[in-house]
Amino acid sequence: MKHYIGLMSGTSLDAIDAALVSFPDERPVLHHAINYPLSQSLRNDILALCTPGNNEIDRMGQLDIVLGNTFAAAVKQLLADTGIDATQIHAIGSHGQTIRHRPGLEKGKRFTLQIGDPNTIAELTGITTVADFRRRDMTVGGQGAPLVPAFHAAFFSTDTQTRAILNIGGMANVTLLPTDTKTPVSGFDTGPGNILLDSWIQQQQQQQPCDHDGQWAASGTVNLHLLDTLLKDRFFQLPPPKSTGREYFNLAWLQQYLNAYKHTLTPVDVQATLSELTATSITDAIKKYAAEAIELVVCGGGVRNTDLMQRIVKKLASTTVKTSDDYGLPAEWMEAVAFAWLARETLAYRPGNLPGVTGAHHPVVLGGIFPG
Ligand SMILES: Nc1ncnc2c1ncn2[C@@H]1O[C@H](COP(=O)(O)OP(=O)(O)OP(=O)(O)O)[C@@H](O)[C@H]1O
Ligand SMILES: [Mg+2]
Repeated sequence: MKHYIGLMSGTSLDAIDAALVSFPDERPVLHHAINYPLSQSLRNDILALCTPGNNEIDRMGQLDIVLGNTFAAAVKQLLADTGIDATQIHAIGSHGQTIRHRPGLEKGKRFTLQIGDPNTIAELTGITTVADFRRRDMTVGGQGAPLVPAFHAAFFSTDTQTRAILNIGGMANVTLLPTDTKTPVSGFDTGPGNILLDSWIQQQQQQQPCDHDGQWAASGTVNLHLLDTLLKDRFFQLPPPKSTGREYFNLAWLQQYLNAYKHTLTPVDVQATLSELTATSITDAIKKYAAEAIELVVCGGGVRNTDLMQRIVKKLASTTVKTSDDYGLPAEWMEAVAFAWLARETLAYRPGNLPGVTGAHHPVVLGGIFPG
């Protein structure tokens, strides 16, 4: 049986996810997965490159190699944990670390950039590595994102029930899976997932990487006036296809709105408002563009934020809300498993993008292949 490894390092910068996967009977089976830590200095170097600054080419070139080494180390750790030899791995699918995503620029200048040198990964592990998944979609007019909907479509579509899949990572994205194969799958980013919740607690309580189980947000009070103002942001008004990233939704984005509330809002109430904003922007988008969904399957790290999940469930009273755990794929490993699958598709020369999702003119085989 062929094994694959999926590597994902998302916008949250929480850790590198590495998943060992196989596809017996064409279904994904997750054998083992690890969170490989990102050191604080590595995280700082990534963050520094996520916004424009000086000397970017040298800093990017070096970080590309450092990340390639770190991804290779994550693979070796995963193999050591499972006792599986590298020769038994058919391929690695490495998403890389996004440091800039600019789908909104004018035609001919749009770009997206993921780093973490795949030459280094292939050389150090000896395993064929597929990487740079997003840029081919952009060359055919797509947003280069989101890419996981093809995976959602392959494994979560049914002919009996219209389902939507919600991934709550740094950003949040929705995939709508119709019951018939003639209707195209649609999907888009709804806006922030965990990013604002993580960023605000990290700024206010330096030791906290995230609002654990959403307890801090749950103890605050939503400021309806601020909520209303934030919801008027232009990204939420845009129709799909659309995608976004850290370069748009970040602390500076929040701060421009918070300035008006300097002396009237406590940090905990800001957190409560951000949780409500995240839940509302997600559920408004589902009601507007995925209203046919009878069931919503949620995945991504945000599933573990109890406060956020409760707000989402409450707003979608007529939809059955489940998590991917209910279907045997743990919520936090979905993206890594998806990139293992996308590598498999690329090696079979099958397209991995969905034009109805990214806005591409046609399906394309994604990524580059770096032989092991
Ligand atoms: N117990 C928890 N309580 C609250 N939040 C949690 C918990 N566990 C995970 N999270 C959230 O999930 C985030 C990580 O989610 P995930 O790895 O899916 O995001 P990501 O790396 O940004 O991925 P991507 O952007 O590619 O979807 C953490 O940063 C945190 O905000
Ligand atoms: Mg992550």
